[in-house]
Amino acid sequence: MITERQDLMEKVTALCKRRGFVYPSSEIYGGLGGLYDYGPYGVALRRNIRGLWWRHVVDLRDDVVGLEATIISPSPVWEASGHTENFTDPLVECRGKCKQRFRADHLENTQTCPVCGGPLSEPRRFNMMFKTHVGPVEDTASVAYLRPETAQGMFVNFKNVLNSMRVRVPFGIAQQGRSFRNEITHGNFIFRLREFEQMEMEFFVPPGEDERWHAFWIEERLRWYTDALGIRSARLRLRPHDAEELSHYAKAATDVEYLFPFGWAELEGIANRTDFDLRTHQQHSGQDLTYQDPETNERYLPYVVEPAVGVDRIMITCLLDAYDEEEVKGETRVVLRLHRDVAPVQVAVTPLSKKEELIGPARDVQRALQTVYRVEYDQTGGNIGRRYRRQDEIGTPFCVTIDFETLEDRAVTIRERDSMAQERVPIAGLLDRLRERFA
Ligand code: GAP
Repeated sequence: MITERQDLMEKVTALCKRRGFVYPSSEIYGGLGGLYDYGPYGVALRRNIRGLWWRHVVDLRDDVVGLEATIISPSPVWEASGHTENFTDPLVECRGKCKQRFRADHLENTQTCPVCGGPLSEPRRFNMMFKTHVGPVEDTASVAYLRPETAQGMFVNFKNVLNSMRVRVPFGIAQQGRSFRNEITHGNFIFRLREFEQMEMEFFVPPGEDERWHAFWIEERLRWYTDALGIRSARLRLRPHDAEELSHYAKAATDVEYLFPFGWAELEGIANRTDFDLRTHQQHSGQDLTYQDPETNERYLPYVVEPAVGVDRIMITCLLDAYDEEEVKGETRVVLRLHRDVAPVQVAVTPLSKKEELIGPARDVQRALQTVYRVEYDQTGGNIGRRYRRQDEIGTPFCVTIDFETLEDRAVTIRERDSMAQERVPIAGLLDRLRERFA
């Protein structure tokens, strides 16, 4: 079972490169650990994931607004947030042959190197933030950091949003964007990266209502994975954090975990951050960050409930969850059974041959379908069977094939990815029929 699941990660990694989802970053120079680039289908998949998150967390609610803050922020932000002091992992180094470095909390035996058996050093705290300098002078005043989480952008802009928007507590500020962590050990493909993309929402609530809202967002976020992304519920679970594993800012946290090939691991974290962040930024900046309730006139620092997740982690979850192989006519068919809203291409339009008389009607069908769906026009790549297999591998739910009969009967064939079943449909009713099939 374990080998099969490990095998799955290798197969998905290979598919991602072969089919243009993910490439190792700067590969022609040997690459750099924990950094990946996204190819055309990867980009499309990620845009869909971001879009679905934004729709659920922002657009379908009237109590959440968006924000895009900078990736670089000055040192005082990270001193106030506690990251300069606390955003550390325990690092141990091999004193034997291999000299590799490990996270002590990921090892069962912290005395012996798991690679070469040599002795390990005492753990030391390693800060994971990437440091840089802003401006031409590299002195302590110019120190800045690449953000390790997008969340601080929401806290330092809390007053700006409050003063410029008609928001009232409870309300949320949402952001999607890159974050950076100099992870000691990266790995499991795009599961743990050094540059990744987060989608976070800080939901500001009156103190005393935080636990109720925490429970609300845990349920909301879990439901999103099954309902919006089509992830199998049997591979999802909730895991509340023990007191000793809570981040320095959190009073409580629950992870949405997925059963990855290497075991259950965090997909998303939903934390109760209390008023820690607003309080500490108020202290360090000297600015008043309190909120005054317009009805009761009560003034207070709101508490914060935060659902936080990585796009890359959702992407690998979708791919692993969707990957399937089956035997068809003595050959292995690889198919990504991606949810229709996540799939990079929703409909592939495939003329049976490159003959001129088929290209005209095929392009007409493409243009009509493009108004509603993400469409790929595919007239290359050999015979139609090979083209279907390629679309199966990138998870395209439907192929629409234009053949020589189309010229006579003005009808096309819809071929469905999962069952491979085909049906003949008049071009005039094609959009309506696809709408029904996608419903
Ligand atoms: N603002 C809270 C925060 O950043 P976190 O649990 O450290 O909390 C939130 O990160 C989410 O970001 C994780 O659940 C995961 O989905 C994603 N994430 C964190 N570190 C990551 C990494 N090194 N590579 C990819 N994704 C990561």
